[in-house]
Amino acid sequence: METLFNSIYKNRKVLITGHTGFKGSWLCLLLHKLGADLYGYALEPPTTPSLFEKAGITELITSEIGDIRDLEHLSRFMQQVQPEIVIHMAAQPLVRESYKIPVDTYAINVMGTVNLLEACRLTPGIKAIVNVTTDKCYENREWHWGYRENEAMGGYDPYSNSKGCSELVTAAYRNSYFNPANYANHGVAIASARAGNVIGGGDWAADRLIPDFIRSIVNGETIKIRSPYAIRPWQHVLEPLTGYQTLAAKLFTEGAQYAGGWNFGPDDKDAKNVEWITATLCNLWGDRADYEIETNPQPHEANYLKLDCSKAKAELDWYPKWNIETTLKSIVEWNKAYLNKEDIREITERQIDQYIAETFY
Ligand SMILES: NC(=O)c1ccc[n+]([C@@H]2O[C@H](COP(=O)([O-])OP(=O)(O)OC[C@H]3O[C@@H](n4cnc5c(N)ncnc54)[C@H](O)[C@@H]3O)[C@@H](O)[C@H]2O)c1
Repeated sequence: METLFNSIYKNRKVLITGHTGFKGSWLCLLLHKLGADLYGYALEPPTTPSLFEKAGITELITSEIGDIRDLEHLSRFMQQVQPEIVIHMAAQPLVRESYKIPVDTYAINVMGTVNLLEACRLTPGIKAIVNVTTDKCYENREWHWGYRENEAMGGYDPYSNSKGCSELVTAAYRNSYFNPANYANHGVAIASARAGNVIGGGDWAADRLIPDFIRSIVNGETIKIRSPYAIRPWQHVLEPLTGYQTLAAKLFTEGAQYAGGWNFGPDDKDAKNVEWITATLCNLWGDRADYEIETNPQPHEANYLKLDCSKAKAELDWYPKWNIETTLKSIVEWNKAYLNKEDIREITERQIDQYIAETFY
């Protein structure tokens, strides 16, 4: 597997922020398979249990526990490591939580991005930076078309808005310090990545559909869903992660022509509503799993959200690979194996191997 992406990750120093989280843990496993020399900066895992602990990710990475709001600590670690590629994922990533803690959400997601880019600016040797934001960074017009990379930033709630701000910060640092026109002088290429609603085994976050579904199953309860008709671009976690890897590899080898924003979402036909996803999961799970619709008033969340990924397809040759049915099957398989007390590292690596075998060879 080390030969994927022209072997550019083999022995390459890669620093991931947010490596203790759901996506961070999958990314560590993927990059480890590619032979990368891995470093991580984040707070302790955000949930108990966590994929980070269950899959023994600490064995694969030099892990620094620190706050992204602490510029001094982050800069010290960055200068000690001198990474060549940086993937920024540390964030407060939950919409409903952001309504409860807006100030922390902005501090972590906006000033955290400023700190990350400032630490990168002060560290020589970095060639490629990917800032992971979200599909929710766009100004949501509640229309049926997918958003394109050149559309306005926005965000109704503090989380979505903070990610729109994180995009603006990235653009300001790119213009001011890592300008593509001066690439020959500074040698740093910086991009941002906007993925959809990312799902997969090993997510235990609060107020997300799949973790809520599994918790209900474990507790023998009927799952309650909010916003049944809200359409989201659901995708398996390996889809955007291989997008970020493709992008970082291009930034690293080809430079500033790949700087800018990139969407990594599923095909249009896989943007399903919450009720469809839940009903399909119940069906796949069996054992009379069932759901009901929550009728209490809920905080505002977008109704329609799709991404147009034509740019990534045309310029990065990146395509969505696992459709929604395959994705949901893999989630059911992962969680059944987990409940059967199988080895978590093994289950997760098995799914990575299967994904790579089906989609890259
Ligand atoms: N999961 C999704 O559906 C989804 C979709 C689009 C974008 N994203 C983005 O992907 C990234 C990872 O999301 P996730 O689902 O893995 O979230 P997660 O909550 O599982 O992980 C978040 C990570 O950020 C770290 N973190 C949080 N606050 C921090 C702080 N103050 N200082 C340092 N580290 C801190 C946590 O320790 C953890 O490592 C986030 O930037 C998120 O906004 C997620």
